[in-house]
This record gives sequence, C-alpha cells and structure tokens, in this order.
Amino acid sequence: MIEVKHQYSLKDHNTFGISATAETYCRITTIQQLQEALSYFKNEAVFLLGGGSNMLLINNVERPVIHLDLKGKEIIPHNNDEVLLKVAAGENWHELVMFCVKNNLAGIENLAFIPGNTGTAPIQNIGAYGVELKDSFYSCEVVELATGNSYTFNLAQCKFGYRDSIFKNEALGKYAITAVTLKLKDLKANSSYVYKTDYGAIQSELEQLPGELSLNKVAQAVINIRTNKLPDPKIIGNSGSFFKNPIVSRTTYNKLKLEHPAMPHYDVDDQNVKIPAGWLIENSGFKGKRYGDAGVHDKQALVLVNHGTATGKEILAVAQIIQKEIKKRYNVTIETEVNLIEN
Ligand code: EPU
Repeated sequence: MIEVKHQYSLKDHNTFGISATAETYCRITTIQQLQEALSYFKNEAVFLLGGGSNMLLINNVERPVIHLDLKGKEIIPHNNDEVLLKVAAGENWHELVMFCVKNNLAGIENLAFIPGNTGTAPIQNIGAYGVELKDSFYSCEVVELATGNSYTFNLAQCKFGYRDSIFKNEALGKYAITAVTLKLKDLKANSSYVYKTDYGAIQSELEQLPGELSLNKVAQAVINIRTNKLPDPKIIGNSGSFFKNPIVSRTTYNKLKLEHPAMPHYDVDDQNVKIPAGWLIENSGFKGKRYGDAGVHDKQALVLVNHGTATGKEILAVAQIIQKEIKKRYNVTIETEVNLIEN
C-alpha cells in the first residue's frame, strides 16, 4: 500500500533548507511500493527524491515526488580478499562509510562525511580526496520508470566520469536506482591494501592524528578536513560544491597561468587542465559574501549557502552573478554541479 500526501513540505528533505512544497508526495520503502507508485502516477513525469543533498529547489515541485527510502545492507562473499556489499538506495552514505570502516572493508573511507543517500551516489559519481565512487562500484539495480521493470547496470554501463554518469545523460529521468553494490577489499583477509593518501590535505591531517594508518584514521582525517572547510547542512543550508571545477584546454590554461601565476590546477590529460572553481570565485572577491540570506561560504568559496530563509531563486541569482563575473574576468564558464529543480 502506498500513502499519497498533498502540499507536503520539502524543507526537511533538501540540505539547502529551502521552503518548497511538493504538490503530491509519496514515500516508498520497498520495490513493490515503488512499482505501485509508478503505476498510480502513470503518464506523469515523476520527481525522484533521495537524500536531497545535491539539488536546489527553485520553485514548488508540481510533479509527483516519489521519496526513495529503501533500507538494508547485505555482504556477499566475492573472492579471497574482496566482498560485495549490496546497499539499498535509502541508506545514508556517511553511515555506510562508517559501517565499512568498522567492518574493515576498504575502498570508500576517503568519501566519509559526504551528505546524501547511497542510491544517489552513482548519479554524479561522488568524489573527494583522490577517490571516486566508481573506484569501488560493482553494479546498481534500477527500476525503469516507464515499465516498473528491474535491471542491473554494471560499472561499464554506468559510463562514469568526473561528477558524471549515464544517469545524467542518456538515462536521465528514465530509472530509479534502488540499490548499489560495491566491491570492497576485506582487510580481515588481506593486509596489502594501499591507502589513498596522496591528496595533500589528507597527508597533513594524518600527521596530526595519533596511531597507525588505518581505515578509521583515514576516515577521521577526511571528517576533520571536511568539518573545517565545509558547512554542516544541519546548521547552514548548502549542497556542497555548487559548481564543477572547469576543465579547460592547455592553451587556455597556459594563458591564464601567465596572468595568474598563483592559480592552482590539476592535469586531466595531455590536452586538458582542471582549474579549481573555488579559487576563481575566491579571487573574484566572493568568498563569504552575502546577499540577504543567500551567500558564499566563508571557508570554501565553491559552496553556496542559505543563512536562513533564502529562496531557491535567491540562491540561483547569486550563482548567476558569480558565473557572469568568472566569465568576464577569466573567460571561463563554470557549470553548476548541483541539480537545479525548476518545477
Ligand atoms: N580554493 C581556493 N579558495 C576556495 C576553495 C578552494 O583558493 O575558496 C583552492 C584551494 O586552495 C585548492 C583548490 O582550490 O588549491 C582545491 O580546493 P579543495 O581541495 O578544497 O577542493 P575543490 O576543488 O574546491 C573538490 C570537490 C569537493 C571535494 C574536494 C576534495 C568538486 C566540484 N568539488 O573541491 O567535492 O570534497 O575537491 O576532494 O569537484 C562536492 O562535490 O560537493 C564536494 C564538496
């Protein structure tokens, strides 16, 4: 049985803390309920809600909202030193990371403290501190919205890229992800795991922490870095990085570097270079800036924040001011990383 609610507030369902309502809302906790909801809303485009941590609600949502709240975890033996961990879409991502740390399952410890649910992690191939979801991804289960049929997508089929996957492209709006299966190193069986600690901030944070290198120590280092730089959505509304780091041609990069020798960069390949949007935004004078309750975080300029009662439109207006200024100053286009929900 499904329960359909009307004029349902989404304020507690989006980490930006925007007061928007869903005209129709339905929470589902099983695949069967999802199929029921899909046939109930047949012929209507539905809006799938997960942890609400990577979206900006610009208006009230007119489409029926289906809140995917499936729970459960299952460890499946895979080979001598690896296990598969099948996780339902509604499981909180950070709690999953800490579950893995506690159970000596290695692979996602660098992704500690990222808000959101497990089911939405593949959509943008979440990443931080030198690791991306795709590095531990095995497969995901989906339900096709048009038919209610279930399918499995493997690693190659998901076409993961930097904050990108098939679910943001040709599969956009076609499937609900109901479970994610990760392939993790079982450190109880194998001690030769190589921790990913190249990322500068992790190295220096690890040096401050006592004890041997362990999954817990790496996760703790990441938690410390993130809590120092990124606002806690429970206190200040936000959706993490609002923009993607732009990837520019080496020719463009070389020109910019001449004018701005201090500009950091990451090499993508021979032809392309990634520039931190946070640096571009900070150096354009926006860090910590406020326009009413909408603003730019004072410790990480890539993060837009809601200081209280900002509307989605007000946050979007700040984003557009920033995009325009970056284009003017650097001739670089920065794209939003957060999904903009218009209706
Ligand atoms: N920087 C500034 N000013 C700022 C922010 C950054 O000058 O206000 C400079 C930093 O000094 C550094 C560089 O930009 O040299 C990169 O900064 P940082 O390491 O903080 O990472 P980022 O590129 O700003 C990306 C991800 C984050 C992820 C971190 C760590 C994207 C869009 N964002 O941010 O992901 O946590 O790297 O790996 O790729 C998210 O997606 O929501 C998110 C928080």
